Amino acid sequence: MSKPIFRERASKILSDLKTGGQFKFLRELQSPMDAVVKVKGYGDCVCFCSNNYLGLANHPEVVEAGLKAMRDYGAGTASVRFICGSFTPHEQLEHTIATYMGTQAAYTFVSCWNANEAIFPTLCEPGDMLISDELNHASIIDSVRLATVIKKGLLKGIYKNNRLTGEASLEEALDKASKNPEVTGQIWVVTDGVFSMEGCIADLPAMRKLCDRYGAILVVDDSHGHGVMGAKGHGTHEHWDMFGQGAKNGHVDLFSGTLGKALGGAAGGFVAGERDMVELMVQRGRPTLFSNALPVSVACSANKAIEIVMREPQRVQKLKTNVQYARTKIREAGFDVLESPTAICPIIVHDTAKAIAMSKRLLELGVFVIGFGYPVVPEGHARLRVQISAAHETSHIDALIAALKKL
Ligand SMILES: Cc1ncc(COP(=O)(O)O)c(C=O)c1O
Repeated sequence: MSKPIFRERASKILSDLKTGGQFKFLRELQSPMDAVVKVKGYGDCVCFCSNNYLGLANHPEVVEAGLKAMRDYGAGTASVRFICGSFTPHEQLEHTIATYMGTQAAYTFVSCWNANEAIFPTLCEPGDMLISDELNHASIIDSVRLATVIKKGLLKGIYKNNRLTGEASLEEALDKASKNPEVTGQIWVVTDGVFSMEGCIADLPAMRKLCDRYGAILVVDDSHGHGVMGAKGHGTHEHWDMFGQGAKNGHVDLFSGTLGKALGGAAGGFVAGERDMVELMVQRGRPTLFSNALPVSVACSANKAIEIVMREPQRVQKLKTNVQYARTKIREAGFDVLESPTAICPIIVHDTAKAIAMSKRLLELGVFVIGFGYPVVPEGHARLRVQISAAHETSHIDALIAALKKL
């Protein structure tokens, strides 16, 4: 008789998490996502842990667009797109995304995780080299891993976060790749636009120059940059003057992004870039060929959210003002917050159990901030991640500061 290996192992892992103070409790929300949310057991709390950067998740026009889509089209096609087709709103959304991103084409997926998973296993071939920032999002890391399993002979390299020259840098990785006889194909470089745990941004113009020098393709996941970065919220490429063909600092070859943060907040992801790259993912991507389309309600609500971002750049400006105010006040309260132009303000506390305990205490004080520890960030780098939104008023940020001071 076989031993119950898995059950014993699972029960030990779970009980170790509990005794180590690392067990995550999933909070139950009893109201829509907004500046203030009702958290079961804690009542109304000011929310600083959502990626609802522009406050569009519960915008009446966004909600209505989703409801109308359900009335007009039902829930979905009950099939993948190449078999049963997709609805007109999917085409419209992809057109809107391409315009918003300043790219030739775009294609949507049920999540950005799926979009990232489609990119490298589809576009890379044996003999290519894939170079990735060490702090890229888990979905990029897993896509790179999957690609190297599926395409045997695809090589990979990793460089230190945002380090473009010197030891363990992107330049060094590109140089090694260019001299490696096993690299007979395309070199790819992939980075987050905004790093989700640090809140720092990639130096895309410098990366573009390096990529051009070595003939590499530049891929950017800007999930936390869309709606946040640049004067009009197009993303980190707008921030760096790289919006559209012919931009001052060159362009990014391929983007991925999520619709589950600033751009509506429900779910969904996309790729946007050169037509042929996008078309290859439509033709050959496994998440495209073997998985249903984004729900039509989400396609319509996201389309409306992007329309609002383009129509109301003052939302992006309000977010920037809030971010500036929050960073200054957090620092004045005596906390060490990482500096950057993004809406992610991490307060480093090192120990995972401490981060979780602080987050619980803040919730008791009516402020919803999440503590991140291992394995979401490396061991010893635990933090409280404060995220600012255009939905916040000064009074909400003041409430955060008052609670932080009580910790
Ligand atoms: C940089 C980055 N890429 C991808 C994702 C995954 O997005 P989605 O929730 O749409 O799968 C996230 C979400 O946390 C992210 O931060």
